[in-house]
Amino acid sequence: TRKLAVLTSGGDSAGMNAAVRAAVRAALAAGAEVFGVREGLQGLVDGGELIQSLTSADVSGILQLGGTDLGTARSDDFRTRDGRRRAAHNLVERGVDGLVVIGGDGSLTGADLFRREWPALLDELVAAGELAPEAAADHHELGLVGLVGSIDNDMVGTDMTIGADTALHRIIEAVDAIQSTASSHQRTFVIEVMGRRCGYLALMGSLAAGANFVLIPENPPADGWEDTMCDVLSGGRKIGRRASVVLVAEGVVDRHGNPITAHDVRTVLEERLGEDTRVTTLGHVQRGGSPTAFDRYLGTVLGHAATTHLLATDPGAEPQLVGIRGHRVVTSPLMECVEATRSIADVISSNDIDRAMALRGSSFTS
Ligand code: F6P
Repeated sequence: TRKLAVLTSGGDSAGMNAAVRAAVRAALAAGAEVFGVREGLQGLVDGGELIQSLTSADVSGILQLGGTDLGTARSDDFRTRDGRRRAAHNLVERGVDGLVVIGGDGSLTGADLFRREWPALLDELVAAGELAPEAAADHHELGLVGLVGSIDNDMVGTDMTIGADTALHRIIEAVDAIQSTASSHQRTFVIEVMGRRCGYLALMGSLAAGANFVLIPENPPADGWEDTMCDVLSGGRKIGRRASVVLVAEGVVDRHGNPITAHDVRTVLEERLGEDTRVTTLGHVQRGGSPTAFDRYLGTVLGHAATTHLLATDPGAEPQLVGIRGHRVVTSPLMECVEATRSIADVISSNDIDRAMALRGSSFTS
């Protein structure tokens, strides 16, 4: 019997539960045993009761829940070689030879490193007398599949990350609500949205909720952006617009690399236009709550594909990221996705926007 393990790691996102549920049930249906690892990569390091064999009933009733029922953590221990050696020990002693990691770019980078170190980690455990040589020989490879669970939609290898759609819905509900109070008072609102260095949520949120101006990292505002923004907003007032809304991506910087905060934008609007302006930081409300139909669907098809792929391939096969492109499930080498995602972030940080957009291609993540 093949034995697999599944975990969620990094910032939670809606739809992670759908992915876990589908991964577990697809594995069980194929006759495999599957362990759930609690508290993310930290649970892999700590082992014990945090790694438990799951039944179909264990993942019942979680499809519609936000967050992650398995729990998650940003693990410092897993960043150390000693931590990863303990994690390897915990998997080998249970006979696990395939791992599904559902997390963001940081978690998948860590998991990819773990997979590459795996044979050496087992050698170290044998040398330290903590693992029988036969056990190491039986489990000399670890299969790995990564699914991207993140609200940021910032990873190469999938058109959409699990949880981005739900966060977008939270954002447009909030912006719609703000529009009504803004309109009543003829006020201006500056709304900060999450996304790290990715402007997907801000851009799509502004489009779907009808914001009047948006600032995103992929298009760092050029010198004079304040004049452009003020012209757009005052033009709207002149034609009778009662509410003005500016969306600011949390990671936006200007062409010189200086961060632009929602409070900076408010100051500009108050000083130059004399607008009655309020700042709203949406914060973690964007990460919480029940997943949209799309994220339930996405988590389900990707969770199913993850364990199906692991069970169909040798544990020594190259680790893959399973995502969607053009509504089809696709697999891509995990390491290439991790590296391409990093290089886009580096290029954005260096402000070479034309190159960043070329790397990103026609969509945000492919
Ligand atoms: O990566 C998801 C995300 O929600 C980002 O959009 C945000 O910058 C960050 O995580 C917040 O992290 P934390 O929950 O640790 O404060």
